[in-house]
Amino acid sequence: MSADKLIDVRNLNVTFKGEEGPVYAVSDVSFDLAAGETLALLGESGCGKSVTMKSLMRLHPAHKTRIEGQINIDGVDLLSMRPAALSAMRGKTVSMVFQEPMLAFDPVYTVGDQIIESVMRHEGFSRVDARKRALEMLERVRIPSAAKRLDAYPHEMSGGMRQRAMIALALACKPKILLADEPTTALDATVQIQVLLLLKELQRELGMSMIFVTHDVGVAIEVADRTAVMYAGRIIEEGPVDDVLSNPWHPYTQGLLGATVHPGMDRKQALPAIPGSPPQLTRQITECAFAARCSYRTDECMKPMPAAYQAQTRAVRCIHALAEV
Ligand SMILES: Nc1ncnc2c1ncn2[C@@H]1O[C@H](COP(=O)(O)OP(=O)(O)OP(=O)(O)O)[C@@H](O)[C@H]1O
Ligand SMILES: [Mg+2]
Repeated sequence: MSADKLIDVRNLNVTFKGEEGPVYAVSDVSFDLAAGETLALLGESGCGKSVTMKSLMRLHPAHKTRIEGQINIDGVDLLSMRPAALSAMRGKTVSMVFQEPMLAFDPVYTVGDQIIESVMRHEGFSRVDARKRALEMLERVRIPSAAKRLDAYPHEMSGGMRQRAMIALALACKPKILLADEPTTALDATVQIQVLLLLKELQRELGMSMIFVTHDVGVAIEVADRTAVMYAGRIIEEGPVDDVLSNPWHPYTQGLLGATVHPGMDRKQALPAIPGSPPQLTRQITECAFAARCSYRTDECMKPMPAAYQAQTRAVRCIHALAEV
């Protein structure tokens, strides 16, 4: 593993022990993240984006989850970390903005107390200093009447306000890496843009690296340097965001772009939406998981999938795409 990577994930498999048998949520996923870089993790609902992000914080319940592979964060082997080291790392080295803001906050404490507690624990600040930092963070994310809002409970805030408060909580200890899991999906369009711009501004200010999870191609282009496209628990294409989205190699990425209206897209070139739906993850899929929906499918696609094909800055997992590049 290279030392200049803040995140280095190799051959990650995440399997849940469900009541009706295993769920193979993430399969053979590898990616990395350099300092200051933003990676957009792109894909439809249920493809494993949130499961991948939560693995980077080790948030899956151990007794219900099997995690295999290697996760290196800031030079440390995450999967062998002890609980004390893990909680020292969460919120400080890596922090997460959750898809559902109510997950981040405990409903019985005020927003201010939760930010203050995190700053005291990670930064060793006194309560008075931690309160100052909490206030500064609420002002930074442009929450009006920030001093008053410090004493509000999460349910007393509107959705947009709570989203900003969650960003304040996630960034209060100036983490090296921010995992932003669809942080704007629940918001209306104008608030979405404000929150995106705010995140980019804070990222620059704090010199953070970021993984930004989205199913929105336009958002990925807006925020990211690189993108990794997921399908049925695997990364099927990866590379610089402009290259991948202007000239997608994988038939799934091509279909995803065809099904999305995004800035700069020539509508006449748009492909029809992909017929069919993603497979159930209750079976361990060894062949190409997209084959059943793919118009390029041949018998070869039903054989165990080869490793990703790398070409300079890009990678793709499709034998037909390989023939073309
Ligand atoms: N705790 C769990 N137990 C069993 N299965 C789970 C669990 N968490 C997630 N899954 C399954 O893993 C798969 C991937 O889920 P994940 O939440 O990562 O999707 P996602 O890409 O984030 O989708 P969305 O865009 O809707 O948020 C889904 O099939 C989901 O049902
Ligand atoms: Mg999700």
